[in-house]
Amino acid sequence: MKTVDYSEKLIEHFQNPRNVGRLPRPDGTGVIGDPSCGDCLRIFIKVKNNRLAKIKFEAYGCPAAIATTSMLTEMALGKTLDEALAIKPQEVAGALGGLSAQKLHCSNLGTAALYQAVCLYRQQQPRPRKDR
Ligand code: FES
Repeated sequence: MKTVDYSEKLIEHFQNPRNVGRLPRPDGTGVIGDPSCGDCLRIFIKVKNNRLAKIKFEAYGCPAAIATTSMLTEMALGKTLDEALAIKPQEVAGALGGLSAQKLHCSNLGTAALYQAVCLYRQQQPRPRKDR
């Protein structure tokens, strides 16, 4: 059986994930799953002045998915929406000391769910009226 090497930082985020839970009346939510492994997670956001004022997540997933989403929430909190969307899975994995090639896909779930949540938020914003 092949074992997976995780950094101490990744294990710490897995054992003590940050920003876990739901937000009441979120401004946006994103749900994503990976059919190849069955892992899935949901992200909830609150937006204030175009910045992520709050972010939480729930996950049913492997240690890497939970730890990378935990790290993502720390990296994204307080950023503008565009800054948060610019966070790449590789940056999140790097902030945790890196992931092996076989586990790198786990870091895609959080960023994909955040993307969905921001898109949903933006879709719900009133569009500026065009003068006739
Ligand atoms: Fe499925 Fe990690 S094995 S997200």
